[in-house]
Amino acid sequence: MKIIKSVARMQSLSMQKRTEGKRIALVPTMGFFHAGHISLMTYARKRCDLLVVSIFVNPMQFGPSGDFERYPRDLKRDRVMAEKAGVDVLFCTSAQDMYPPGFQTHVEVERLTQPLCGQSRPGHFRGVTTVVTKLFNIVQPHEAVFGLKDYQQWLAIRRMAGDLNMAVKVTGRPIVREKDGLAMSSRNTYLSPAERKAALGLQQSLSMAKYLVRKGEKSPKRIKKTIKELITSYNSAKIEIEYVSFCHPETLDERDIIKDKTLLAIAARVGKTRLIDNCLLSPGE
Ligand code: PAF
Repeated sequence: MKIIKSVARMQSLSMQKRTEGKRIALVPTMGFFHAGHISLMTYARKRCDLLVVSIFVNPMQFGPSGDFERYPRDLKRDRVMAEKAGVDVLFCTSAQDMYPPGFQTHVEVERLTQPLCGQSRPGHFRGVTTVVTKLFNIVQPHEAVFGLKDYQQWLAIRRMAGDLNMAVKVTGRPIVREKDGLAMSSRNTYLSPAERKAALGLQQSLSMAKYLVRKGEKSPKRIKKTIKELITSYNSAKIEIEYVSFCHPETLDERDIIKDKTLLAIAARVGKTRLIDNCLLSPGE
């Protein structure tokens, strides 16, 4: 496995591989790998000749009060895990190389980034779509693979690639969960044992909603009420719901009745840690 730190070197390797007719896949990450990242790498490995995984904790997508400084980092451990997963190139560049002095161009997906996480994280998605555009231009992948825990992120990136005619397939892969159901996230390491227990309320809410919809419940309002009661009764640690949204899985428009496939997306703060989770509700299935 090659470790490439320079943008120019990465771009010239990709150009060379493209000329040789090789298929390139990219898994963009912020590092501190867990089984969710590895599942993306394993999927991508089978679909390309050159598997590139990028590690870049992108300052542009963190707000001023975000966790950029304390975001977990462990390149040594990531290296070992990536090598085991069959990665060809680990691209870990620096903020200076990505955003040299004078940088002033951004990419923004307008509507899909407004609701849900867009409400509490202004500028976040603009930072994501800008860095992902840069990664696409540098690595020139035929396919890029993202985790569906960040469903809104995947939707926005897919929209961006379509709208701007980027020649890359944007794939979303299922959420990977811990044994007890907690969605895997690098931020789970912030949780104290009590918070870790409280965080299970998110996944329990999704299961509860699925159960209610299977039994014929169609009202987001009633399910929301049950979810809020469940989350607050479930735990003793501080958990604060940011949003519970029932929305169209393509447009993210809020639904007032669950008749067709609906995305249920939840965000909550557990102590100081912001967690998100989601599932698709399919009435009649
Ligand atoms: O999902 C992430 O880890 C990041 O938002 C991404 C896509 C790597 C962009 O920095």
